[in-house]
Amino acid sequence: MTPLNNKRILLGVTGSIACYKAADLASKLRQAGAEVDVILTSAATQFITPLTFQSVTGRRAYVDADLWGSEGHVLHISLAKEADLLVVAPATANTLAKLAHGIADNLLALAAVACESPLLIAPAMDGGMYHHAATQANIETLKKRGAVIVGPEEGHLASGLRMVGRMTEPAELLGHIRQTLARGGPLAGKHVVVSAGGTQEPIDPVRFIANRSSGKQGYALAQAALDLGATVTLVSGPTALAAPVGATRVDVRTAGEMLTAVLEYSRGADALVMAAAVADFRPEQIAEHKIKKGGDAPVIKLAHTADVLKEVAAQKNGRPKVMVGFAAESRDLVENAEKKLTSKGLDLIVANDVSAADAGFEVDTNRVTLLFADGSKEDLPLMGKDEMAAVILQRVAGLLK
Ligand code: CTP
Repeated sequence: MTPLNNKRILLGVTGSIACYKAADLASKLRQAGAEVDVILTSAATQFITPLTFQSVTGRRAYVDADLWGSEGHVLHISLAKEADLLVVAPATANTLAKLAHGIADNLLALAAVACESPLLIAPAMDGGMYHHAATQANIETLKKRGAVIVGPEEGHLASGLRMVGRMTEPAELLGHIRQTLARGGPLAGKHVVVSAGGTQEPIDPVRFIANRSSGKQGYALAQAALDLGATVTLVSGPTALAAPVGATRVDVRTAGEMLTAVLEYSRGADALVMAAAVADFRPEQIAEHKIKKGGDAPVIKLAHTADVLKEVAAQKNGRPKVMVGFAAESRDLVENAEKKLTSKGLDLIVANDVSAADAGFEVDTNRVTLLFADGSKEDLPLMGKDEMAAVILQRVAGLLK
């Protein structure tokens, strides 16, 4: 379940070459579980047809002619009232002006005036038009009224120039839409810090000790916290994953850097969810130059790293209200996890059998037991890491109540 599930999105499409991206956005919204009604302005129909949108949304797409059709006098009202969110993407300078001033001379502009739901706008136009004082003033007016303006981005424009004016990519828009719909969720106004991925402990300038953590579960937890309306800081070890839209990402490499960042960002936070696989040992000495293979094989002496959770729990001031840890175990799952729950001063520990092929490192699924500080337990069956993250964050929201 994402904030998009079963939500009605009214998508207004206006006359820009970025209309082709709007079709992709409509498709992504539907795949994420939303019901998408599309209104095209007459200029948009010069670039793309209603049929394109009907094909990806499975629903009728509307044009100005429908305003005067059989449903005429109520169509803009019903579309507006049923919408959980109005998205205008791409939004031209002309439509921005209409939205800012309440001009209602086409079906989309009429629906916008009738709509009381949040408004998200993705402008797309030539750079000069975007920087025009009138456009900038209209954007300011809309922002002051609470509209979410996403983009435009810098890049190649239809004029052939590289300037600010490109519509934000659909995948990123989807993240902003998700975040806008999550407003007012159970974690609204709460700051959640999530750590994710593994750390790397350098041996010399080219080698390091790492672990198998992919960061998938941690990134899913960050998205799940955003989906419940939280403000999220994601402290991440090296990974190729893209941070969820709306999360503030802090990149770290070593266990030492993870400790510094988590201590700093979790001070006074509502919750810390420590999903990172932090190295327990690091080479005591880091060789200044690459260790050559000639001669005897080197013996690398290891030293302990700090335990991040213990250090956070030991703070006199600013300990997060709820602390969640993960226990990666290959045997005696519950017994070992219980010990960590107590020794690390946690409110909840997620016990994870990493020896199973379908759970733990690298795979997309997980199977865990939740152990709470009050002694209660909850077994979660095999499920996707996204789904599991949603359940864990619901429990965090429950503990924060
Ligand atoms: N953790 C931490 N700092 C470390 C190591 C682990 O804060 N230096 C956190 C992890 O992020 C996780 C929890 O502690 O939330 C348990 O991690 P795990 O690797 O299962 O246990 P360890 O404490 O490292 O103990 P062991 O390796 O002996 O099982």
